[in-house]
Amino acid sequence: MDHFDRNTGCSLTPEQVDFFGRNGYLVVDRLTSASELTAIKQEVVRLFERRAGREVGDQFDLASADQEDTRPLLSQIMYPAKYAPALLDSTLLENATAIAQQLLGSDFECCFEHAILKPAGFGAPTPWHQDAAYWSPNVTHHTISVWVALQETTVENGCLHYVPCSHQGDVLPHQPIGNDPHTHGLELTAEEMHRVTNVVACPLKPGQATIHGGYTLHSAGPNTTDQDRIGLVVFGKRAPTPRTLRYDFPWQEVRRTAREARANAAEKKN
Ligand code: NI
Repeated sequence: MDHFDRNTGCSLTPEQVDFFGRNGYLVVDRLTSASELTAIKQEVVRLFERRAGREVGDQFDLASADQEDTRPLLSQIMYPAKYAPALLDSTLLENATAIAQQLLGSDFECCFEHAILKPAGFGAPTPWHQDAAYWSPNVTHHTISVWVALQETTVENGCLHYVPCSHQGDVLPHQPIGNDPHTHGLELTAEEMHRVTNVVACPLKPGQATIHGGYTLHSAGPNTTDQDRIGLVVFGKRAPTPRTLRYDFPWQEVRRTAREARANAAEKKN
C-alpha cells in the first residue's frame, strides 16, 4: 500500500477535541489517500466475498437469525486484519490511532475491529444503540470507534446518525433487534426512544470518518441505493474502570445466536 502524507489528516484542532468532549461524536476529514483507500476497499470486499471468518463466528449477519441459506441483511467481519494482514501496514490505521490518542490519551491502543457491509437495495437499518450495551456491565469502558467510509456514505446508503451529548449518561435498556433472541444486533427499547432527539446525520466523503465513544447513541438507516455500502471501524481502548455498583444487562443473557454457536464449535475443535 502506498503511503499518504502521515502528517495530513491526523491532527485535530482544539475546537474538534472540545466538540468531541461535549457532544460525544465528531466528523473528521479523510484519513488516507484515495489510492490506499481503494486498495483497502478491495481487500475488504474480498473478505466479504470469500466469507472470511464465518466458520469461527467472526463473519455473521448482524440483523437476522444468520442462517446459512439466507442472504445477509447486514454483514459484519470481526478483526478483518486477522484475514487481511496487509491492513495493518496502512496510513489509515496510523492516522486513526493518532486521532484516538489525541482525543483520549496516548495509552489508547487501536486495531481494525470490524468491517460492515450494508448491501445495495435492501441493507437493513442499524437501530439506535450504545456500543457499551454489547460489553461487560461490570466496568466503565473507555473506548473510541473511528468509522471510516470506504465510499461516499449518505443518508440514502446508511450513514451514521448521532444524538449529541448522549454519551454523558450510562447504558440504557436494550434488547436484541426486534426482540428476537437469535439476532446478534441490539436496539434501544421502545420505552427509551424518547431520548432520541436533536438527531444529527453525518454523511461522509470516501476516507472521511465519524468518531464516537462507547456510550454515544447512534444509528444508521437502510441502504436504498444500488451500491453496497462498506464501513471499516478502527477501535481504540484503554483499561476499563471497575464499577462500584452492580449493573445487569439482561439483554445479553437472552441472546442465543448462530454466530455464537459457530464460535463455540470452532473453539471445541481447537
Ligand atoms: Ni454501534
